[in-house]
Amino acid sequence: MLKVERLNAGYEKFQILFDVSLNAYEKTITCIIGPNGSGKSTLLKAIFGLADIYSGRIILNGSDITRLKPHEKVKHGIVYIPQTENVFVNLTVKENLKIAGYTLDKIKLEKKIKDVLELFPRLREMLNKKVMFLSGGERQMLALAMGLIKEPKVIMLDEPSANLSPKASKEIFDKILELKSYDEIIIILVEQNVNKALEISDYAYVLMSGRKIFEGKPKDVLKNQNIRKLYLGF
Ligand SMILES: Nc1ncnc2c1ncn2[C@@H]1O[C@H](COP(=O)(O)OP(=O)(O)OP(=O)(O)O)[C@@H](O)[C@H]1O
Ligand SMILES: [Mg+2]
Repeated sequence: MLKVERLNAGYEKFQILFDVSLNAYEKTITCIIGPNGSGKSTLLKAIFGLADIYSGRIILNGSDITRLKPHEKVKHGIVYIPQTENVFVNLTVKENLKIAGYTLDKIKLEKKIKDVLELFPRLREMLNKKVMFLSGGERQMLALAMGLIKEPKVIMLDEPSANLSPKASKEIFDKILELKSYDEIIIILVEQNVNKALEISDYAYVLMSGRKIFEGKPKDVLKNQNIRKLYLGF
């Protein structure tokens, strides 16, 4: 279980998050939604160690990981897939997968690559293709595969469906849903595609101006008239 307790965080003197608390569990999709600039990405960055934490705690399975550096968080099984530029376009699919698994020994890496390719059969046909020739959807699949190679305890996805066609978005959401049965992973999803995110999530947090304004089951978010009108635009 990942526990975020009363987090105050930002970038140097610019505080962005105010007293944000969140719980996320294994085999569960926890989504974070909210308008542009509400601090969703900052929350993921703070958990990963890329934003400044002024106070509050981040606890993973009982260990306090609040102050760890990103490379130490990776060792604790925290994987963060950023919103953009999450793959190396000048390298092949295979090379990207190898880079993702650089900490594994050779045999383990080959096994892990084989393993993730079963989840993403399309990537198998593209192993020697340079990523610049892949579609947006295929790149997101690759980014997800690269995250899984690191054997995450927590995988944080920042807008995986951004700029994708409806068809490619559906495919990526279906894959994220499959992750629930793939391993004991805590899945945290930030999304602009609120309807779709709520559809696949087990629990949701709504951020507004860096504060948590609501949390609950997706159906309760959708029922809440204030959130619908004021913050989600539908
Ligand atoms: N590196 C940074 N330094 C200073 N301020 C930043 C930095 N990155 C983001 N911000 C500010 O933090 C606030 C929250 O941004 P953040 O990217 O977390 O929002 P978001 O909810 O992810 O938005 P979006 O939906 O547009 O991705 C914004 O006001 C933004 O300008
Ligand atoms: Mg963002």
